[in-house]
Amino acid sequence: MRAHIQKGPQILELLKKKSVGLQHCKPTSSVCVLDSKDAAGSAPCAHSLDSIPGPTNWPLFGSLFELLRKGGLKRQHEALINYHKKFGKIFQMKLGSFESVHIGAPCLLEALYRKEGNYPQRLEIKPWKAYRDMRDEAYGLLILEGKDWQRVRSAFQQKLMKPTEVMKLDGKINEVSADLIKRIGRAQVNGKIDDLYFELNKWSFETICYVLYDKRFGLLQDNISQEAMDFITSVKTMMSTFGLMMVTPVELHKTFNTTTWQDHTAAWDRIFSTAKLYIDKNLKRHSNDNTGNFLCDIYHQSHLTKKELYAATTELQVGGVETTANSMLWVIFNLSRNPCSQAKLLKEIQDVVPAGETPSAEHIKNMPYLKACLKESMRVSPSVPFTSRTLDKDTVLGDYTLSKGVSISLLDLLTTAPYMNSDSKPSEVQISALHQTAGPAAHGSGGAGVPLRLTAGSRGAEGAAAPPGV
Ligand code: HEM
Repeated sequence: MRAHIQKGPQILELLKKKSVGLQHCKPTSSVCVLDSKDAAGSAPCAHSLDSIPGPTNWPLFGSLFELLRKGGLKRQHEALINYHKKFGKIFQMKLGSFESVHIGAPCLLEALYRKEGNYPQRLEIKPWKAYRDMRDEAYGLLILEGKDWQRVRSAFQQKLMKPTEVMKLDGKINEVSADLIKRIGRAQVNGKIDDLYFELNKWSFETICYVLYDKRFGLLQDNISQEAMDFITSVKTMMSTFGLMMVTPVELHKTFNTTTWQDHTAAWDRIFSTAKLYIDKNLKRHSNDNTGNFLCDIYHQSHLTKKELYAATTELQVGGVETTANSMLWVIFNLSRNPCSQAKLLKEIQDVVPAGETPSAEHIKNMPYLKACLKESMRVSPSVPFTSRTLDKDTVLGDYTLSKGVSISLLDLLTTAPYMNSDSKPSEVQISALHQTAGPAAHGSGGAGVPLRLTAGSRGAEGAAAPPGV
């Protein structure tokens, strides 16, 4: 022990001598002008990956300690904003075994999306793959790649993204939302509620389960069943244990059977066994009818195996719970801070939905301000700090040539920053510019029936945010 302490300074010296401690810190421009070099894909003298600036890069750990010192993964958005200010619109960072180039400018984002092939790759979620391989389960949309991803995505595309199909879910979504309002009414004390986020988690969970399995779990009742609670806590445990295994080798966790690995796999076991049970029950219940059941239609109209259906459905559930609840929490918070917007939204709802009538998907078509509030809130307070891509070919982005296999993090929060005015609020013109930049991506389809690799839940999440009662 003593020897280790004495060797500490020597090791530090050695690391410094090898000059691996600091990367280039000359900032790239953070101003986003859509230069031809960003958009066109060929820069005359593009620099290599090594010359991209970034924070401290110690061997093995990269900037992990620096990030921990700045508040850890929970405060990563602040660290990213600071790095963006310091290094510009493109910088690179290594956190343990996770290395990525971060981009935070609309022009680079647009350039990247324009160069994407038909099968965009997202960051590999190794802990999830390790679990599936160990239990011989299939991969779902969140982890599939290439043609398999496109095949499974196409099977779900119609039901999840086609507006007329999603509109058919409004009755179910409404039923759960009405329960949420009643539940909040019962749970509040003097206008305050203990844990609104937990209530919203139960709401999003109940909604997605109702859509997927045609079953109510009763999460918004006062007495929640143990089965439902186990399900929701398993998803939370699974989500809270995979982060560590993204920055440290999952093989090590598996080999040494660490507590993190045990908790992670036990959580997945519970998630899969419950999901399989309800998928099977649902398929059996609707095997002989023609009532347009969500999962039955997907299963019978596609060529998915049962295993693929289990995996993809389970991942829809995982993907749709925390994201929707978190976004809704921010919408409520942001509206509460903007009484004028709140009043304008209430007026729109009252104008569109006649008094005493239950709101429907049809009504939402005439609520542009509601949609603007949701989008604006998700823009200024995104619940996912970044999305990711792994380059499937050598790609020129801005001044740099990045090789195939490089992982890119798209910093959504920073991408829209240049559109902000001095009040941190975008003008109407700027909002419309943002929406135009989104292009066909906003509709989840790249044309010619090719699905884009965007969230499978955008339409459903929009519907879930409809006013549950006016
Ligand atoms: C406001 C709520 C939501 C947010 C903020 C959100 C966010 C995201 C993001 C950022 C991605 C990655 C997109 C990309 O790589 O470009 C994603 C993917 C995904 N999301 Fe969501 N999501 C939400 C709701 C949902 C819901 C309700 C579901 C389930 C019905 C869902 C299921 C998925 C799936 C399956 C993927 C992977 C799609 C694929 O690769 O084909 N999400 N989501």
